[in-house]
Amino acid sequence: MTLVSSTPLLQTARSGGYCIGAFNVHTLEMLQAVVEAAEETQSPLIIQSTVGTVKHLGPDYIAKAALVASERSSVPIALHLDHCSDFNVIMQCIRAGYTSVMIDASHETFDVNVAKTKQVVEAANAIGVNVEAELGRVGGVEDDIIVDDEHALLADPDDCARFVELTGVHTLAPAIGTAHGIYKGEPNIDFDRIQKIASKVSIPLVLHGGSGIPEEQVRRCVAAGMSKMNVATELRIVFSNAIKEVFNQNPEENDPRKYMVPAKEALKKAAIEKMRLCGSFGKARDYLQ
Ligand code: 13P
Repeated sequence: MTLVSSTPLLQTARSGGYCIGAFNVHTLEMLQAVVEAAEETQSPLIIQSTVGTVKHLGPDYIAKAALVASERSSVPIALHLDHCSDFNVIMQCIRAGYTSVMIDASHETFDVNVAKTKQVVEAANAIGVNVEAELGRVGGVEDDIIVDDEHALLADPDDCARFVELTGVHTLAPAIGTAHGIYKGEPNIDFDRIQKIASKVSIPLVLHGGSGIPEEQVRRCVAAGMSKMNVATELRIVFSNAIKEVFNQNPEENDPRKYMVPAKEALKKAAIEKMRLCGSFGKARDYLQ
């Protein structure tokens, strides 16, 4: 099947009380690995790329590769642009075939965030592309977006309701205590806040910073109302470590078709584990019915 918008996937996840894994990929093998994980577990899937990866590979290469994966696959797949503050890059990705985009104006004032999000929603609505926005500020490092602890800010539930009303955005990433990158200790997640936001906002909510959240906390986030979980850092580490291991064992190896194989397998295994935590096994059928 062709790539689908993430909106119906996430709405179905929200009403079904589970989460969909959204995985950042940077190479063809990473993309194939998460697709194989989705296929094997019959999970709906969101493939993501950051702006850095869009610049590295080209949005058309990424969109075409995701399209081929989707056409060969029996599960619904959306292609999402992660954290983008540049309207032109967003439009470039939509034109290339992305079915979901994030406008991240969380570093701006509430009113500017509303205005920028609205502009993207209007353009995206014309072609059925999902738009995600962020309220509050998720801490940590994602690509070249760096938010230190001092500037991280939790989202206010009433602001979330107002923001959704004013922008018509399809999915919302409220900052609730998770952070991008690897946690130093346990994440300090405000589960009550997730519940409050979910009670005021009917659109699907997005959990950022999915790397390293303990199993029990992921489950509580999903139970409290999160419908999409973004995972980047952990997958990159697993993939790179597997390649390092090959070179440790055999420093003479020089065939990417060989050293990418264990990396792909390791990433697939890690993605399957995240899908299990999300509760998305077998849920592809929800969307296909
Ligand atoms: P991690 O890198 O912590 O997994 O966060 C991913 C993310 O939220 C991407 O938007």
